[in-house]
Amino acid sequence: MKILITGGTGFIGSRLVHHLSKESHQIILLTRSASRITKFNNAMLTYLHWDPRLTGEWTKELNGCDVVINLIGKNIFEHRWNEKVKQEILNSRIIPTKLLVEAIARAERKPSLLISASAVGFYDDRNDETITETSSGGSDFLADVVKQWEGAAHEAENYGVRIAIPRIGLVLEKSGGIIGKMLLPFQWFAGGPIGSGRQFLPWVHMDDVVRGILYPIENKNFHGVYNLVSPNPVSMNKFSKTFGDVLNRPSWIPVPDLALQILYGEGANVILSGQKAIPEKLLVSGYQFSFSDLKTALQNILCS
Ligand SMILES: NC(=O)c1ccc[n+]([C@@H]2O[C@H](COP(=O)([O-])OP(=O)(O)OC[C@H]3O[C@@H](n4cnc5c(N)ncnc54)[C@H](OP(=O)(O)O)[C@@H]3O)[C@@H](O)[C@H]2O)c1
Repeated sequence: MKILITGGTGFIGSRLVHHLSKESHQIILLTRSASRITKFNNAMLTYLHWDPRLTGEWTKELNGCDVVINLIGKNIFEHRWNEKVKQEILNSRIIPTKLLVEAIARAERKPSLLISASAVGFYDDRNDETITETSSGGSDFLADVVKQWEGAAHEAENYGVRIAIPRIGLVLEKSGGIIGKMLLPFQWFAGGPIGSGRQFLPWVHMDDVVRGILYPIENKNFHGVYNLVSPNPVSMNKFSKTFGDVLNRPSWIPVPDLALQILYGEGANVILSGQKAIPEKLLVSGYQFSFSDLKTALQNILCS
């Protein structure tokens, strides 16, 4: 299969590319980084330079691809949010997604499937109310970004392309994400829940993120938006306690809202609020999670 990927150098993308390259797929990876291109090009994995704000030579590579996977986007915790950063968070998702769909529209041989990342930030915080794919969207900045981002991907359907839009939760993996941020304080006996502790974390193990993103490739009737989260979301208090138990450390020094707000500004709300989201669509379709229990997931990540 020939697969074109954006964001394939990132936290999720690099794991996904590693997985795909073991299965002998031909991968075209669009990246802004010239250094990666000279380092990694080989017969099965081609790094191609692109400016994700512009159309260009890369559109030729899209012609004849079987699947396009779109994982691009400025990391929402890279900088403290201000108007400029918020604009970058929006533009780095919407502009490339629109360009990809325009290129699909023009391609003579179109892909049969576009998988375009999204986030559970689509929903607002409803305390302990269970959220499924049919729940309505939120109204804050991130929810608005997600709606526009998904809307841009949905356009591909107008050209006969099946779309799959995973609303990804909080990804658990040792090298980054929330674990990367919590590990050091816990190792130094200074760990604890972030914020009120009552907010729900729609966590998901990286193995399930990779399998769940690729799931629509093998499952040809699967389409549209789906929650890519574990079936068992937990409160921040429970998450922190389990994290401590697995590391054999106490979970006793809470991180106050203010500390997060100083670091991330309005972006702190992403972690100070939460969603009790469940993967109803994946479960109904028969997807078997590799990790549906938090303790087992954390033991796998932190102790192996
Ligand atoms: N990680 C999570 O917990 C999580 C949760 C929900 C949703 N998601 C979504 O899933 C996708 C992948 O997540 P990730 O954590 O793997 O992302 P990531 O590592 O932060 O970034 C993915 C890639 O996006 C490109 N990129 C970064 N900043 C950019 C900018 N300002 N303009 C244009 N491109 C930029 C980079 O590719 P190049 O440098 O190669 O161009 C980068 O490798 C993202 O769209 C993210 O919003 C992630």
